[in-house]
Amino acid sequence: MKQQMKAWRQAGKSVGLVPTMGYFHEGHLSLMRQARAENDAVVVSLFVNPTQFGPHEDLERYPRDFAQDCRKAEALGVDVLFAPTAEEMYPPGYCTYVHVEGLTDSLCGASRPGHFRGVATVVLKLFHIIPADRAYFGEKDFQQLRVIQRMVADLNLDVEIIPMPIVREPDGVAMSSRNAYLNPAERQAAGVLYRALQRAQEAVAAGERDARKLQQAVTAFIRSEPLARIDYVAVVDPQTLEEVSEVAGPTLLALAVHIGPARLIDNVMLHPAAG
Ligand code: PAJ
Repeated sequence: MKQQMKAWRQAGKSVGLVPTMGYFHEGHLSLMRQARAENDAVVVSLFVNPTQFGPHEDLERYPRDFAQDCRKAEALGVDVLFAPTAEEMYPPGYCTYVHVEGLTDSLCGASRPGHFRGVATVVLKLFHIIPADRAYFGEKDFQQLRVIQRMVADLNLDVEIIPMPIVREPDGVAMSSRNAYLNPAERQAAGVLYRALQRAQEAVAAGERDARKLQQAVTAFIRSEPLARIDYVAVVDPQTLEEVSEVAGPTLLALAVHIGPARLIDNVMLHPAAG
């Protein structure tokens, strides 16, 4: 991979990187298409990163289909699908980790201790193996995007982080590899996440500015779905990810909800002026 990077560099080619854990869906493919459109060469990394999974999380059962992923990436004109093994990424004696402070304490960081340490570590390793001009990240994992942006700024990395909008199923459910865990009833129930977020957007459009009221309304709406169990519903500043009491400017409404065996996340931006 490093030799290929050197060859591209010497030929003056720009490189786009899309880090993934595989089991590609349209969300992943939208990132790859954008990378394809903006760079001379495109690398997609596929690595189910063990350090970002907690001891009782879904590392073992995380969905995998390497042959299908190869076909999808190739069809989009991806130049290299970089798929290292866990042993190559974390050989015996490995002991260096990246901790982005503060930003990783709330939201998913609170319910998944160590998760963002694993994410920041593997993404920094990928940036060193593949020193791309641009790297593409989905807003579905909004906190992850902010953590990576912070790390890139703090550690003086040259890569430009390109945020990409959430790709949804026709019923609004955010595309996710983890949707594969859902049976038909649970898949239907998962629609409650985006419907709740849309309700909040409508309330803001109708003049609601009280973050606590919005948070409570979203919580009550999701509780009406018997298969859903809330992890968090939060109204936060989209830069600092700190909770706000009022929707005074663009504000992020983010949530994590367990549906059956899956922990699903989603978010929308609330725009007070849009009403
Ligand atoms: P993964 O969950 O495979 O997601 C890879 C990229 O696709 C992330 O940037 C994610 O935000 C984006 N993505 C996922 N679903 C999306 C959707 N519905 N719409 C738009 N973008 C979507 O995120 C990871 O892998 C890992 O944490 C990783 C960054 C690769 C580090 O291991």
